Amino acid sequence: MFIRALQLVLREKRSRIIGPGSPGFAVNAFSSAPSSQSQQRLAGKVAVITGGASGIGKATAAEFVRNGAKVVIADIQDDLAHAAVAELGPDAACYTRCDVSDEAQIAAAVDLAVARHGRLDVMFNNAGVGGRPLRPPLGAMDLADFDRAMAINARGVMAGLKHAARVMVPRRSGSVICTASVAGVVGMGPMADPAYGASKAAVLGLVRVVAAEMARSGVRVNAISPGAVPTPAAIRTFTTLLPGKSAEEIRRIIEENVNMVVAGTVLEAEDIAKAALYLASDEAKYVSGHNLIVDGGFNVTRAASRPTES
Ligand SMILES: NC(=O)c1ccc[n+]([C@@H]2O[C@H](COP(=O)([O-])OP(=O)(O)OC[C@H]3O[C@@H](n4cnc5c(N)ncnc54)[C@H](O)[C@@H]3O)[C@@H](O)[C@H]2O)c1
Repeated sequence: MFIRALQLVLREKRSRIIGPGSPGFAVNAFSSAPSSQSQQRLAGKVAVITGGASGIGKATAAEFVRNGAKVVIADIQDDLAHAAVAELGPDAACYTRCDVSDEAQIAAAVDLAVARHGRLDVMFNNAGVGGRPLRPPLGAMDLADFDRAMAINARGVMAGLKHAARVMVPRRSGSVICTASVAGVVGMGPMADPAYGASKAAVLGLVRVVAAEMARSGVRVNAISPGAVPTPAAIRTFTTLLPGKSAEEIRRIIEENVNMVVAGTVLEAEDIAKAALYLASDEAKYVSGHNLIVDGGFNVTRAASRPTES
């Protein structure tokens, strides 16, 4: 028994002194499956994840929990959210129904995290709705579609920023992460939806503007801009454009034709989750006002062409 305890202590000490240059550093620092508490990059932290019932938000909730965080999933899809909580375990995750276009519901989600866990360390403003794939020409656009995209994708993020600030600033610590899009960085061609692109550009604008004010209070604010990730939402969008194709065929089209191709790999929701993990963790302690684009280089290369024609 004593020898076993001694072995554990020695192993723990050894893991603490592993660093760059030490054999095994790469494996220990970047493993996606932390095997001990010392490797959990969000140990003891509390996160609210809007849109956490599906796609990028769901993958991020899993990544955060694997890394020791407690998460509050804030979404409007009750069944999916309850299933996600069941997968993650009710100790680590809980669900609250929250429509991000309603400020009071965001305020309540933040308050729930504080009431349940005593603090909020990470606010992931991720909920969003995609662009309309077969939108009418500009001259015939219905501005109600523009208002809806702005209400959820932009105003919802503004409300998330506001209520994160309300509880993080007094504690002088926290990390706010907002999901924008590569479509908020570049124009995406003649078929792109102006409502979606503008709403995501607004997210980037908000991050730039509030980063300085929040930095004075020790709170970091960053954006992540994914390329096309074959989440349920993206597959639905492309099915409208390519009726008759199966979900698997659509996934392959997204992976091979829409995104920048990075040889030997594809963009997955888990890649965005890992970007969020970095920005949420103390490893990013001096990173604020940043837009972390995760698109394999699409925005600096193929962005000028129409994705579906390339
Ligand atoms: N998938 C992509 O290719 C891609 C690319 C760039 C950016 N994004 C952005 O990533 C984010 C996540 O999208 P995803 O692809 O994982 O889609 P998804 O549909 O799988 O997940 C989005 C989640 O947001 C929730 N949601 C939608 N409206 C909401 C509202 N008003 N209030 C609360 N929750 C709401 C949905 O119920 C869903 O669970 C979105 O902001 C999206 O715009 C996605």
